[in-house]
Amino acid sequence: MENFTSCNPTTIHFGKGVLSNLGPTLNLFGNRVLLVSGQSSIKRSGLHGRILKYLNDSGLTVFEYDGICSNPLIEDVEAAAVVGRKNQVDMVLAVGGGSVVDSAKVIALTIPVSHPAWDFFAGKVTPNQGLPIIAVLTLAATGSEMNPYAVVSNREVKLKAAVSSPLSYPKHSFLDPELTLTVPQDYTAYGIADLIAHCMEAWFGAGDCPMSDKLILGIIKEAMEAGPPLLTDLQNYDLRARIMYAATLALNGITMQGKVSGDWGVHASGHILSLLYDVPHGASLTIVYPAWMRLFKDQAGDRIAKLGSGMSGKMLDADQAIDWIEDFFLSLDCPVKLRDLNVPNPSVDDIVEAMKIGKVNGMNMKLAPEYYPKLVELYY
Ligand code: NZQ
Ligand code: ZN
Repeated sequence: MENFTSCNPTTIHFGKGVLSNLGPTLNLFGNRVLLVSGQSSIKRSGLHGRILKYLNDSGLTVFEYDGICSNPLIEDVEAAAVVGRKNQVDMVLAVGGGSVVDSAKVIALTIPVSHPAWDFFAGKVTPNQGLPIIAVLTLAATGSEMNPYAVVSNREVKLKAAVSSPLSYPKHSFLDPELTLTVPQDYTAYGIADLIAHCMEAWFGAGDCPMSDKLILGIIKEAMEAGPPLLTDLQNYDLRARIMYAATLALNGITMQGKVSGDWGVHASGHILSLLYDVPHGASLTIVYPAWMRLFKDQAGDRIAKLGSGMSGKMLDADQAIDWIEDFFLSLDCPVKLRDLNVPNPSVDDIVEAMKIGKVNGMNMKLAPEYYPKLVELYY
């Protein structure tokens, strides 16, 4: 087991009705709020109106940037930062899924500076100041609500990249499972797959920590128990709550404590499909994971077999484990091949080229460029 130092500074407000504390919480950080949201879901559900009322009742002045898309774009981050800077906001409030929370994190870093937001992703600048971020989560999946990561696409340079800064932990995150009742079946399934994939990235990482293995399997089993019934009962509050809690735990740091690193080669590969074909994040992972395990079967066979046996409750070898996990993704109605999605004319060459530009690799299982075509063929 490795040494580690751990600090997660995000305050979580979890459960029914927690939003009633939103206004007083924002009052702690100033008066002027930049409210960042997605395309339309919070207006359709009525959440937008409720949020505005809470903020008005607490005497806050609100400026808005909406239209953040799934697989968010750097140009929206830049445009939102202009709104925030012009109006001298004190904080950024994200209301939405992971794409909105991630964008809000980068907007909060960009408002105080005069260089392009992409400089953070390109590694030209290390963030050293940022406005406070407060998140109201409406989709359980990424864990962004309690971690320092933000993932944004830049189509001009053909990259979907991540930035991480201690400044980017939300100060407060409001997690009311009721707000996720309107998430449609497909994105509910992609969220379940994403949280399981976060556990798998930790599982296949470097270093050995038995407690981590147990936490990982515990979170995956919770998702396996609550996820499938939720997909046929989308209005079930208790199942929504169980998945929301599991998703937060899957990427808030605890599964990686005592390990050297996670792997993240599957996420890096999946980001290429989102960048090129706008594949939803969770779907990109259920497509790549079975192929990735087949590619690394010789090197990681024991870990694959142990994971599949732990998930299924049966003694499986590596081949059986991969088949079992693939079938489980299929049972969630998630794609396991690129052809399962309606992507018009996907090109192996384009994917391999973008993987080269993105220098796709894992932190533990080394994914050399000569393996890229093989990986793509395995999931095409
Ligand atoms: O844009 P709106 O209209 O809000 O609709 C969204 C979007 O179409 C909709 N939605 C969200 N909440 C809803 C809802 N629809 C109905 N009712 C609600 N309550 O769902 C769609 C997907 O939303 P999005 O935010 O894109 O999904 P998700 O939370 O899965 O976030 C995906 C993004 O997060 C990144 C991914 O790469 C991707 O860009 N990730 C962020 C991570 C992090 N910060 O730690 C880690 C992850 O591995 C991931 O990379
Ligand atoms: Zn993910």
